[in-house]
Amino acid sequence: MRTKFIKVLGQDNQCLNNLNIDGKDIIRGLNQVPKTLPSKYFYDDIGSEIFQKICELPEYYPTRTETSILRQCADEVAQITGACELVELGSGSSTKTQFLLNAYQKISDKCKYIPIDVSGGIIKTSILNLQKKYPDLLIEGLIGSYEQALAILESVIVPSRMIFFLGSSIGNFTAQECNSFLRRIAHTLKPSDYFLIGIDLQKDIKILEAAYNDSKSITAAFNLNILSHLNWRFQSNFNLNLFRHEAIYNQANNQIEMYLHCLETHRVSLDTLNLNVFFEAGESILTEISRKFDLTILQNELELQGLKTLKIWTDKNRWYGVILCQAVELK
Ligand code: TRP
Repeated sequence: MRTKFIKVLGQDNQCLNNLNIDGKDIIRGLNQVPKTLPSKYFYDDIGSEIFQKICELPEYYPTRTETSILRQCADEVAQITGACELVELGSGSSTKTQFLLNAYQKISDKCKYIPIDVSGGIIKTSILNLQKKYPDLLIEGLIGSYEQALAILESVIVPSRMIFFLGSSIGNFTAQECNSFLRRIAHTLKPSDYFLIGIDLQKDIKILEAAYNDSKSITAAFNLNILSHLNWRFQSNFNLNLFRHEAIYNQANNQIEMYLHCLETHRVSLDTLNLNVFFEAGESILTEISRKFDLTILQNELELQGLKTLKIWTDKNRWYGVILCQAVELK
């Protein structure tokens, strides 16, 4: 059996669940108009568990659709790239990854899998599961944010690497953040390395809104959990009963917007951040955007950042796409 280990990025390794988080991004977000919160705070251990339930909801088509595409394209991806180090950003439960791992196991016994996630709990559980299934695979988990992980990867040159970023998580960045993220990826890769990305495509508004307002209110619980996460991490006193979840599709910007509406006036203190926040009745926090893409436009953006498309796979409805890119030298 190969050695497996998990590295906690940042200085605070007292507790695996604790990232080295100073909360400055929270202060910035809650002082903005409208108030916002950074999406990584969704994924404490409880949030990651609720998210797994979202992935199984009948209304939430992205996971299912992406899984079916990966099932179909994994062998071809492995054929194109050949053996490489497999780095997954936001690996969560690594469920879909197994199609890729199976495909790479067929072509080489030298691949290494590096799952990266902010949630320590989910990464430990998924590595233990993968270890049983793939006793010969070298796995090195990293617990940390994307920035922390990319900084580490950049300092280690390997013969061939593929970074993959599934679940249309790229859609959770603004257009500007998306471009700097892609530039960061291209910078971390050396020319001829690979990038595999899953993206949710534009479609009928009814399908989109149902995916983020499910009938069992699991998405509502997930959205509200960001406030409980802040409560334990920053000793704050958000009263979850005063907030209501809503997701709407902003057609002009091609994005789902997830809100928590505050129903009454509410005063919150985040003790460890020395921050007091006041909510008017009806005031909202924009907790997440989920952009929906046009394949051609995204392909151009990838290319501008030095990531050239090699192949695209979609499902028969063209609801979802998986793009394999190769890093090229930018002139
Ligand atoms: N990457 C997922 C998406 O955009 C994240 C997500 C799904 C999400 N449902 C959510 C984030 C609800 C916040 C609230 O589809």
